Amino acid sequence: MSTSDPLVVFTPSGKRGRFPVGTPILTAARQLGVDLDSVCGGRGICSKCQVTPSYGEFSKHGVTVHEDALSEWNAVEERYDQKRGLAKGRRLGCQATVQRDVVIDVPETSQVHRQVVRKDASDRVMVMDPATKLYYVEVAEPDMHEPSGDLERLAEALKAQWDIAPVTAPLSIMTRLQPVLRKGKWAVTVALHKGHTDDSYQILDIYPGFNEERLFGLAIDLGSTTIAAHLTDLRNGTVAASAGVMNPQIRFGEDLMSRVSYSMMNPGGDKEMTRAVREAINGLAQSLAEEAGIDAGQIMEAVFVCNPVMHHLLLGIDPVELGQAPFALATSRSVSAPARGLDLSALNSNARIFVLPCIAGHVGADAAAVALTEQPGQQDELTLVVDVGTNAEILLGDKARVLACSSPTGPAFEGAQISSGQRAAPGAIERIEIDPTTKEPRFRVIGVDLWSDDPDFEAAAAATGITGICGSGIIEAVAEMRMAGIVDASGLVGSAAQTGTDRCITEGRTHAYVIHDGRAEGGPLITVTQGDIRAIQLAKSALYAGARLLMDERGTDTVGRVVLAGAFGAHISPKHAMVLGMIPDAPLDKVTSAGNAAGTGARIALCSVAARAEIEKTVREITKVETAIEPKFQEHFVNANALPHATDPFPILRGIVPLPDVSYNTKGTEAEGGGRRRRRRG
Ligand code: FES
Repeated sequence: MSTSDPLVVFTPSGKRGRFPVGTPILTAARQLGVDLDSVCGGRGICSKCQVTPSYGEFSKHGVTVHEDALSEWNAVEERYDQKRGLAKGRRLGCQATVQRDVVIDVPETSQVHRQVVRKDASDRVMVMDPATKLYYVEVAEPDMHEPSGDLERLAEALKAQWDIAPVTAPLSIMTRLQPVLRKGKWAVTVALHKGHTDDSYQILDIYPGFNEERLFGLAIDLGSTTIAAHLTDLRNGTVAASAGVMNPQIRFGEDLMSRVSYSMMNPGGDKEMTRAVREAINGLAQSLAEEAGIDAGQIMEAVFVCNPVMHHLLLGIDPVELGQAPFALATSRSVSAPARGLDLSALNSNARIFVLPCIAGHVGADAAAVALTEQPGQQDELTLVVDVGTNAEILLGDKARVLACSSPTGPAFEGAQISSGQRAAPGAIERIEIDPTTKEPRFRVIGVDLWSDDPDFEAAAAATGITGICGSGIIEAVAEMRMAGIVDASGLVGSAAQTGTDRCITEGRTHAYVIHDGRAEGGPLITVTQGDIRAIQLAKSALYAGARLLMDERGTDTVGRVVLAGAFGAHISPKHAMVLGMIPDAPLDKVTSAGNAAGTGARIALCSVAARAEIEKTVREITKVETAIEPKFQEHFVNANALPHATDPFPILRGIVPLPDVSYNTKGTEAEGGGRRRRRRG
């Protein structure tokens, strides 16, 4: 390279350098470290290297680009254009050579590490840096005078043409290697995998000639109740299909501890649960492949996020140690392994799995995934992230330090154990408001846009019906009941006389509030019972107590920001969550929803090897707090039972919503109705 050589400036990176006349643009890009894609190694086959030369005056770069700055359109480009079409103004970077000073734009689609904005599950920008990629190579033919194996010549070709070494191949590849090489006339495309801790590349699959077969990965959020999977294109991170199934382990126990005890009580019980979950994942992989119209053999990787018990059962490790102090994990590191070791036979026979690292015995890879997505350790403000599920994963941190714990909230937030509870499906009440004066409710059901007091609601809801209350609906219902003075701070539902509404009906020795009575039309009576409120109180107390423990550890009574994560967290209204005292007092505009952060974390790790290394490091730096053995947890739990809280004052919340100071505990002191006080606490 001399100062008289033409100058090549790449945009948008701004990288520039001088190259001898005749240098292909792809070569210049590689030498400057410009992110320009190539699968065929510059042979004019893959078209991944497309660039757009710009002509004219570029005072910013100090160059003038003439029409003849690049070599003439050549036969390879001509052929490609005829066969597949090359957009106007585009050139193949491996074919066009430098003739004079030039400015070259690398379009987004030609960047390997392009950022892909995900629209479906979250609007997150994903960086593509997958562990498994395709490479096209031309392999030397065997020569009697220089005997060497076909695999060795393939390895040499990968080293020479892609600077990739060392390369290993499983037996199943060796058995196919010779026919594939000959069929491809000594040109093959290989799918190579390199994880964040591997020092070698592994051949996962091999195809004759140039192969543009798309490679896929599964990002799997393996929950205690449901298994959700996104079939993701490993070239660009787009989700080709998503699906969820119930975790079949439910038949062995609803919650984690009952599954651990199933394993303790039944010899071989852990194996049964392992088999059940692996079969479900195989089924999910098959149906996702069918939905996307691909062969399941194109699925090269599966990335899992899960709690520690699910983690152990997936990997075939007896979770018994997780059921007793000191809650030792078999490993807290991430796990990379062949999928066939987990009997995941629906995937490519050489597919790989990656399980995110666990944080501690009760704080799993799902919490690690939330940390990867929400990055509490990058925040200036002290940020509380709660991933609400059967188990709540809780993270608290800022740039100084991040803490994590997990708290057993139980399934109440998911609508289970709630008398009129149901899953979030058409017909389920998801929003509710109660007039504080008349105590009359109005609500919205999933599948209908109108509120129930709209004259057209009945007709609009005819198709869905009004069938029950989903998880976010029950939170709003209880919070609205508290704001309307139907429920007192201790969680007691008042009688009709105490509250002044006939919607409060007697149920044995307690009361229930009627949201909707559809019995005349053959529908259900939808109420919030005293038992429902107790179930919600237990769940929210566990959540708040966990958050409080982390705040104690940080020596603070307040947090700057609250992020509600989890598929369900996305639907919770911040105001109602705070009225219930699920989360600490904070300005409402500082409480946001993050969607399914654990699932997003799985997709990030699937799309990026660097992200795998990052989370491995981050997890080591997180301070773990074990709720099960912290003596203060119980105290926090008891205080958190009140709505919103027995001792924490919640001044911000009290400034924006009414929290009537009523009491319906008539035991011993006042006659029914006498406990009704309308005064508001300051
Ligand atoms: S690098 Fe494949 S066509 Fe240019």
